[in-house]
Amino acid sequence: MKQLAGKVAVVTGGGSGIGRELALACAAEGMKVVLADIDEPGMVETARLTNAETMAVRCNVAKAEDVESLAERVYEAHGAAHLLFNNAGVSVAGPTWTTTLQDWEWVMGINLMGVVHGIHAFVPRMLKQGGEAHVVSTASAAGTLSVPGSSVYCVSKHGVVTMSECLHHELRQAKSAIGVSVLCPAFVPTGIADSQRSRPAELAETNPLAAPYAAWAKKAVEKGKISAAEVAAMTLAAVKDNRFYIFTHPHTRDAIEVRMQDVLQQREPTNPTPSKTAGENL
Ligand SMILES: NC(=O)c1ccc[n+]([C@@H]2O[C@H](COP(=O)([O-])OP(=O)(O)OC[C@H]3O[C@@H](n4cnc5c(N)ncnc54)[C@H](O)[C@@H]3O)[C@@H](O)[C@H]2O)c1
Repeated sequence: MKQLAGKVAVVTGGGSGIGRELALACAAEGMKVVLADIDEPGMVETARLTNAETMAVRCNVAKAEDVESLAERVYEAHGAAHLLFNNAGVSVAGPTWTTTLQDWEWVMGINLMGVVHGIHAFVPRMLKQGGEAHVVSTASAAGTLSVPGSSVYCVSKHGVVTMSECLHHELRQAKSAIGVSVLCPAFVPTGIADSQRSRPAELAETNPLAAPYAAWAKKAVEKGKISAAEVAAMTLAAVKDNRFYIFTHPHTRDAIEVRMQDVLQQREPTNPTPSKTAGENL
């Protein structure tokens, strides 16, 4: 989708981090921006920073009815949605054998089902409206690798990658003009390592062995060398070029290559983060 000016962008998780920067980048292109998040003050701040026509909708992406009502609001206000960012996400850490069911329910509800809900609510409407549109779902480098201590997060993000690939094939088969991309960043300094801030009390139980993994992830996120603004710029460039895979961190590709060779050669899986500092290279 080459021309963005005057079109409508919807950004879930638009109250912080990568979502905020996607919103700012879309506003800078002259798009009408709709923010969707559970963090209302965060959305107010993003709206202020955009300096443009911005709508903010409180929306828990884990709830299908919230995302459906978001789509209704967008189509009532603007009559169309051209660029959907399924971006809201959270992370937990800790070894798989001590993950809690609450960890799985919380993370899968947002990271995986949130994307399902976005596709359900928006793609049929985009097909009906006709013309060009684009769906970008934020997965992660963790959606292409298997990182120890991140199994809940990795499973959710692998799901987003394969769901996006399936959607891409289906829309091409349907001869639709809707493009699809999957965004796979490695570490970016945002609020992601502080995801617990929005965790609902009823899903509060956490992995009892999470702490050392969470501390490592927090450090890696804080040290991330590519900013959320740079990720957003790379993402919009990919939308304009109708490019499917968006790998913002070049070293990720080396780790994927090793993983694929492990699979093809049926050898023991290589740990992509063998030491506490190795992850910083991803
Ligand atoms: N920062 C990184 O290192 C990194 C790397 C790879 C992928 N990602 C992915 O990028 C996306 C954006 O995360 P970020 O890094 O900007 O983190 P962030 O914490 O700064 O932003 C996430 C946003 O999602 C919102 N959110 C959380 N739960 C929600 C819910 N149930 N419904 C609606 N909104 C909700 C939060 O309120 C927040 O505004 C996530 O999908 C994350 O998994 C981040």
